[in-house]
Amino acid sequence: MHIGINLELSLDEIAEEIRRCRLCPLHESRRKAVPGEGSDKARLMLIGEAPGSEEDEQGRPFVGRAGRMLDETLKFAKLQRRDLFITSVVKCRPPNNRPPKVEERRTCLPYLKRQIDVIKPKMICLLGIVALQTLLKEESATKARGKVIEKDGQLYFSTYHPAASLYNVGLKSVIYSDMKEIKELLENSY
Ligand code: URA
Repeated sequence: MHIGINLELSLDEIAEEIRRCRLCPLHESRRKAVPGEGSDKARLMLIGEAPGSEEDEQGRPFVGRAGRMLDETLKFAKLQRRDLFITSVVKCRPPNNRPPKVEERRTCLPYLKRQIDVIKPKMICLLGIVALQTLLKEESATKARGKVIEKDGQLYFSTYHPAASLYNVGLKSVIYSDMKEIKELLENSY
């Protein structure tokens, strides 16, 4: 007989916990926590850095400027938001959009790990250096991007954060082609 707590929580239950979370100081300044959204059967999960102002207002991931860039990228790769799961390493907005502190990332990480455990995606696309550092302990976005990396039985593909292309337009075509490659890999190889 198995006695114990049920660790197989649903995404909704995890989201509810995130909305009530007070484990780090970011809960004091947030308007809404942003657990993430999409399919619990997603083959592809996208992981960004942390919510910005629009996300904090709406409680939804990637709905601001970076989100519009992401939507264009998804459209180019013929991927639909509803088939993916989109979230960030940190679920509450850091004040003034500063990068989330290492301690905040560490505190929030168990929520992400539990989301990954429920979804069991074939591939995780890491959007930007914060996701890359947090999940793969890799410091060089340039070195890691554009290839499939396996860690602990999970496949990852790292690319630049969509917001990076707002400041460096040259990165836009790189992000576009990376997303298209992920789509093709999922269709043909995995
Ligand atoms: N940037 C992120 O990394 N995540 C969001 O949800 C929005 C912007």
